[in-house]
Amino acid sequence: MSGPTMEASARACANIALAKYWGKADVKRNIPAVPSISLTLDQLVTETRVRFDPSLSSDLVRLDGRRATEAEADRVVAMLDRVRREARLRLRAQVSSHNHFPTAAGLASSASGFAALAASASAAAGIRFNARRLSALARASSASAARSIYGGFVELPAGSRGDAELAARPIAPPGHWNVRLVVALTDPGKKKVGSTEGMERSRKTSPYYEAWLDQAPKWSRKIKRAIKERDLDTLGEAMEQSTLAFHCCAITSAPPIFYWAPATLSALATVRGLRERGVSVWATMDAGPHVKALCGVGDASRIRQALDRTQGVTRTWVAKPGPDIEVHR
Ligand code: DP6
Repeated sequence: MSGPTMEASARACANIALAKYWGKADVKRNIPAVPSISLTLDQLVTETRVRFDPSLSSDLVRLDGRRATEAEADRVVAMLDRVRREARLRLRAQVSSHNHFPTAAGLASSASGFAALAASASAAAGIRFNARRLSALARASSASAARSIYGGFVELPAGSRGDAELAARPIAPPGHWNVRLVVALTDPGKKKVGSTEGMERSRKTSPYYEAWLDQAPKWSRKIKRAIKERDLDTLGEAMEQSTLAFHCCAITSAPPIFYWAPATLSALATVRGLRERGVSVWATMDAGPHVKALCGVGDASRIRQALDRTQGVTRTWVAKPGPDIEVHR
C-alpha cells in the first residue's frame, strides 16, 4: 500500500485518573494489574500527524517542534510497528506531535500522546479500527492512553497475562456531570522517574504493593458508583485514598520515589483547609508534583484563587470534562 493519501491526524485530550492505575499484570503486553477510572480533560490536548512516506528510509519523530530523543522515538516506533504489522505495511513514517500543555511533568501527556498516535497512525495506514480496538492499541503503549480514546468518565479494567485485547470503556459522557478539575502546577521541571519505571520498581520492591493490589479495586468500584450518582464527596474521598495509596507504594520502593515537591504538600493543605471550611474539593496527584483539585462548577474559581496564592504553585487552570478523540483523514 502506498500513495499520497497515507496521512492522518488526531486530537486527543489527556485524562486524570480518579481511581489510579499503578502496576502491571503483564509487563510485555502492558496489562494493568488494577482497574482504573478517569476523567478526560478538555484543556490538555495533544495533536499528532502521521504520514507514511515511500521516500523515507527510517521513521522521523518530532515532538513539540524538536527531534525526539532516542527513548521517546523508540516508544513511538514500537507503536508504528504494531500498526505496520496490522496493515501489512513496510513504509516508514513521519510523525509530528504537539502538546498544548507542559509535557512529561505528571500531567499525563503520555495518555493523550499515545492515544493520538494510535489513532493517527492507524488511520494513515488505512485501518478503520473501532474505538475499542483503538483503545487496546493505545493501551499497548501506555495504559492510561487507552482511556483517552473516550470523552467524559472512562474505566480501564484490570487484565491478566496475555490479555492482548484489553481496552477501556466509557462510563458516562462529558455532559453527565459538570465537575471541574483545578490544576495547580507546582514545578515546571521534568519528572525524574517515569510511571512505567516507577510502577515496576514498586512491584518489585515495595512491601505495600500487594496491599495496593488488594485494595485498589474497592476504590474503583466506589468511584464508579459515585460517578453514576453524581456524589462528589464519596468520589473525592475514594480518589484521595487511591492517590495516597499508590504514592505510598512509590515512596516505599527501593530506592524510594518521591514524586512530591514541598509545594505539593502546601497545595494539599490548601485543599484540606477549603474542605474544613465546607467546600467540597478533593485532591489528586499522578507521577509528578502537581496537585489537581476536583470540585463542582460553582466552587472552581474560589479554589483556583486559593491555589494561586499557595506557596510554590506556579500556574493554575481549570479543566472541564473533555470530548472523545477526533481523527482527521
Ligand atoms: C500515576 O499510563 O503512564 O498517572 O502504561 O507504563 O505507560 P504506562 O504507564 P502510564 O501510567 C499512569 C500512572 C498514573 C495513574 C493513572 O493515570 O492511572
